[in-house]
Amino acid sequence: MSKENVLKIERIKNGTVIDHLPAGTSLTVMKILGIKKDYRNTVAVAMNVKSKALGMKDVVKVEDRILQDGETDKLSLIAPHATVNIVRDYKVVKKSRVAVPKEIIGVLKCGNPSCITNKREPVSPVFDIEKEGPIALRCKFCERVMGAEQIEEQL
Ligand code: CTP
Ligand code: ZN
Repeated sequence: MSKENVLKIERIKNGTVIDHLPAGTSLTVMKILGIKKDYRNTVAVAMNVKSKALGMKDVVKVEDRILQDGETDKLSLIAPHATVNIVRDYKVVKKSRVAVPKEIIGVLKCGNPSCITNKREPVSPVFDIEKEGPIALRCKFCERVMGAEQIEEQL
């Protein structure tokens, strides 16, 4: 490919690069990160770019930001094989694969209105992974299974 036909997304100085996202998931990633029109940091989103490993992928780069555990948990539900790169002074100082945790604690609400986690009890919702790709979660308290669509609505 000639140089002028290459779309180049600038490298970032400090922040996080979320790479190897399944094609089309970057908008949900933006939602997970709470990035809306009032966001002030530099963000670069690449959707449907060629990837040797995946055919097509999305990439999200956010300057001056490190992901919180809750954000990584949510990310794992839609992109279980993504790579999170932490960049400092232009160098990748940490590269980790997102992993689906054994349990999802306190991040999502159970879809069952009669579940104890939806009553006025101080009980945090906990889900087991019922299935991956597409994801399904099972509530530890009422056994209700939530599918990918219901999960995504909450992200
Ligand atoms: N990156 C960036 N800014 C930097 C350094 C890296 O935006 N200052 C991006 C790269 O463009 C790439 C990702 O962070 O999308 C990971 O960088 P690197 O580890 O250098 O690339 P690869 O070796 O290709 O990564 P992998 O092995 O995870 O595919
Ligand atoms: Zn429940």
